[in-house]
Amino acid sequence: MKKTILGEPLLKLDSVDSTNNYAAALLAKGTAKDGTVILSAYQTRGKGQGTNTWISGAGENLLFSIILKPQSLPADRQFFLSMSISWGIACFLETLVKPVQIKWPNDILVNNKKVAGILIENTVSGMNLNTSVIGIGLNVNQDVFPEGITHATSLKLESGCEFDLNHTLEELTGWLDSCLMSVYQEQYGTVKVNYLNRLWLLNKWANYSDASGKFEGRITDITDSGELMVLQRNGEIKNYGFKEIAFNNML
Ligand code: BTN
Repeated sequence: MKKTILGEPLLKLDSVDSTNNYAAALLAKGTAKDGTVILSAYQTRGKGQGTNTWISGAGENLLFSIILKPQSLPADRQFFLSMSISWGIACFLETLVKPVQIKWPNDILVNNKKVAGILIENTVSGMNLNTSVIGIGLNVNQDVFPEGITHATSLKLESGCEFDLNHTLEELTGWLDSCLMSVYQEQYGTVKVNYLNRLWLLNKWANYSDASGKFEGRITDITDSGELMVLQRNGEIKNYGFKEIAFNNML
């Protein structure tokens, strides 16, 4: 069985464009070891999902990327890697704050506000995943966010405590390690159940929009490829990929 030790080596940078880009460059050079973690105090061009950027105060939060070389993980199981990372972050956060929820596909919420974002960039070789760069931005000690950002929070805002970033990273990677192991051990059912248990709005009716307009829907499940399954009032279940559905408000 594959055993990845996250954080060996741990590369600490003061500033970089994006830890995900740095990780991709190491992979391109062929010098990246499985389990490498690249941590930076600051990013000049932090990347978010899609075309979004990730902005974070210098030295206040955790900004890091993990390099994995999963070898024998089937490419069609890659969403399980994503689910295991969300699950691992949630488990770590639950030791400190509550309630923690996962907003599909992989935003981490505390008290309905975003505390962490995940950007996973995979390469596939044949039927298997070749490399994975797992970028995580966790708001730790930031207590003031730029004007207009109203949906963000941090561990400090939620708990009232200041955290040591090195210790926080060590604890978090411990949880990520054990949740990743479930994927490598092909415990796909366990990974999915733990993800769904924390899924924001699961089984709750809410107002959404898709390409056809506004509708009332209820999230019922996730497909193995990571699509969101949403029941419509007419009894039909529609599957959505990233950015194909937007949440409007609760009913
Ligand atoms: C999102 O929620 O949109 C994903 C945000 C991911 C941000 C992290 S910070 C560390 C890593 N490096 C990046 O450039 N992005 C990810």
